[in-house]
Amino acid sequence: MNTVFGSIPILFRHPSIYGLSRITSSLYLSNGTAANNKLLLFASQITTVINVSVEVVNTFYPDIHYMHIPVTDTPISRLYDYFDPVADRIHSVDLQQGRTLLHCAAGISRSAALCLAYLMKYHAMSLVNAHAWVKSCRPIIRPNNGLWRQLVQYEYKLFGTNTVRMVNSPLGLIPDLYENEVRIMIAF
Ligand SMILES: *[C@@H]1O[C@H](CO)[C@@H](O)[C@H](O)[C@H]1NC(C)=O
Ligand SMILES: *[C@@H]1O[C@H](CO)[C@@H](O)[C@H](O)[C@H]1NC(C)=O
Repeated sequence: MNTVFGSIPILFRHPSIYGLSRITSSLYLSNGTAANNKLLLFASQITTVINVSVEVVNTFYPDIHYMHIPVTDTPISRLYDYFDPVADRIHSVDLQQGRTLLHCAAGISRSAALCLAYLMKYHAMSLVNAHAWVKSCRPIIRPNNGLWRQLVQYEYKLFGTNTVRMVNSPLGLIPDLYENEVRIMIAF
C-alpha cells in the first residue's frame, strides 16, 4: 500500500506501451490490434474484453466475454453514461477472479478515460492521482478534452470535490494538468 495510489500495490507498476498495459492486477489497457492478439490475451489471462470503439472489429475468442461501448473518439462524444456500467463490470469481473482488457483504437483516449473512471469509483482515487497512475503504466494515454470535462463531472459526482479543473486556453477548454504543456507549445 502507498498513500498516493490508494489500494493499488506499487509492485504492479510496469510501464509499457507494448502489448497490454497492466493498470491493476485485474485491469489491462491496449490498442485495438493488441486486443485481437490471442497470444497476448491468453498470456495475461484476460476473461473480458471491452471494445470502446465503433471502428475496431474484434476476433471473438471462445471463453472470453465481450462488451461493446460504441463511442467515437471526438471531444463531443458522450462517454459519461458508460462510466458507471463499465466500472461496475470491471469490478464484478475482478470479484470473480477474472481480468478485463479495455481497448479502443489506440489505447490513448476513450479506453484510458474509462480506466480513470474505474479507479475513481472502485479504488477511491482522485482524478489527478488516477491519471498519474495510468500514465505511469501506459505513458501514451491522453483522453481528449471533451472526455476530460466528463471525468471532471464524474469526480465531482463521486466525491463532491475536484482535483482537476477545466481551464480556458488558446486551444479551448483543457484540463489544468495540460496548462503548462500548452503554454510551452504556444511559445514555440
Ligand atoms: C498496437 O499495440 C501493439 C502492441 O503493443 C503494437 O505492436 C502496435 O504497434 C500498436 N499499433 C498501433 C497502431 O499503435
Ligand atoms: C467492436 O466494435 C466493432 C465496430 O462496431 C464491432 O464490429 C465489433 O464486433 C465490436 N466488438 C465487440 C466485442 O462488440
